Amino acid sequence: MHSLAFTLLACCIFSIAQAFVPCVPDLRAKNAQRVGAINVVPLELEGQLDPTKTWDVKMTYKGETKVLTVSEDTCILEAAEKEWDVPCSCRNGICTTCAGRVIANPDSKKEAIHGLSAEQSKNGFVLTCQTHPCGPGLEVELGMYDTVYESQYGQYEKKATTEQKSKFNVFG
Ligand code: FES
Repeated sequence: MHSLAFTLLACCIFSIAQAFVPCVPDLRAKNAQRVGAINVVPLELEGQLDPTKTWDVKMTYKGETKVLTVSEDTCILEAAEKEWDVPCSCRNGICTTCAGRVIANPDSKKEAIHGLSAEQSKNGFVLTCQTHPCGPGLEVELGMYDTVYESQYGQYEKKATTEQKSKFNVFG
């Protein structure tokens, strides 16, 4: 009985506090603006990127290399889409469809890491929808989804027996 009373009291206090803490409505408004928006700067990088600064980023896709001038508030994916039909889906760092690999000057990027493992990040993989330039000499190879998928799930796919594959139909 004590714990129920305590829980009710805590809920009341939280509800009242929500009405008076100014940051709660701010966050709600901010999140409402982000819903459905594309190419927004990840929350983790807000305030860290200077939109007045641009950097030359060397990008390679399907064997073609181009140097693109990209502002800090533009993600690598958005810049690449102006030149190529590069794959992407969620634009939120979850699906890894837009994966790329940084091949030079990794300190010249800022990223929000969501759908990659620590090992993949250590090996230079990035989610280009969550990666922004912030310095000179950044070089990125695009179209690394298959490689990322292989390192994330391919190992399990190979280990699965025929019975497991047909039972769960996970790997088609
Ligand atoms: S498009 Fe899904 S992680 Fe970038």
